[in-house]
Formats: sequence, C-alpha cells, structure tokens
Amino acid sequence: MANIKGIALPLLLAFSVVHFPIAESAWLIHYHIHVRNDLPLINTPPGRPNLFLHCKSKDKDVGDRPMAIGQDYTWDTMINLLQTTLFFCNARWTGRKRITFNAFEAMRDETRCMKYRNSCMWSVRRDGIYFSGDNSTWKNEYPW
Ligand SMILES: *[C@@H]1O[C@H](CO)[C@@H](O)[C@H](O)[C@H]1NC(C)=O
Repeated sequence: MANIKGIALPLLLAFSVVHFPIAESAWLIHYHIHVRNDLPLINTPPGRPNLFLHCKSKDKDVGDRPMAIGQDYTWDTMINLLQTTLFFCNARWTGRKRITFNAFEAMRDETRCMKYRNSCMWSVRRDGIYFSGDNSTWKNEYPW
C-alpha cells in the first residue's frame, strides 16, 4: 500500500501539471468567498436574522449561521492538486425559500474569482443568488 502511494502521488503531480498548465498559478492563491444577505426587509424586525447560511466542502464545515440583512458570511480556500475543490451552501430564507448552490468550484471559479482581490462574491436577493467577480456587476446564477 505504501508503495502504491509513493508512486501514485508523483504520477498525479506529473499528470496534473501536463494537463492543466493554466492552474499552476491558481494553486498558490488564497481565494476569499463572500456570501452577503441582501434580502429585503419583509416582516422581519431590523437586526433579526431572516436567512440561514450553511456552507461546507467534503473536508471543511464553515458552519450554520443566522444572518441579519447586510451581514457577510465569508471564508478562505485554496485549490487542491486535482482541481476538485468544491464548497456548496444551503441558503434558507425563513418561511419563504431554500436552495443549495455551489459557492466555489475550482474549474469554474479559479479565473473569474482572480479579478478582484481573489474574491468570489455572492449576494442573496429576493429572486436568487447573484454572483460577481468584480464587485460591481451581478448576475443571478441561482434563481429561487
Ligand atoms: C465590495 O464593495 C462594497 C461596497 O463598496 C464593499 O463594502 C465591500 O467590502 C466590497 N467587497 C469586497 C469583497 O471587497
């Protein structure tokens, strides 16, 4: 078993570098992921959470958190060797909507989240979960 591991890792390394040269620089980046509560105040007293966010990957649980309007749920990640890094989030707008969305997918996000402070920015809104890679233009990528 130890022998197989000793051979497999260098092989994986060689394979990855040969096939995904663009990702070499992305492996060194600490990406910042932000999910902001931009929901409207509907039947919610100001300051009271109206959204719950729970984001995790296979290895890391960022936590299940109550979110008041304007609050930012954030964490960092790097991209693994095989570019399979994936964080998904469960968003629950109390009594109204729920959805699961991918907040960080290595292949999809390594370039588009490099543009602005190495950040992926998400905004939870009335009609869906919006993405921005530049913190100025937003697109509804997960309508709910
Ligand atoms: C995006 O812009 C807003 C408003 O200017 C600012 O408050 C926020 O910190 C920015 N986000 C990031 C991740 O820098």
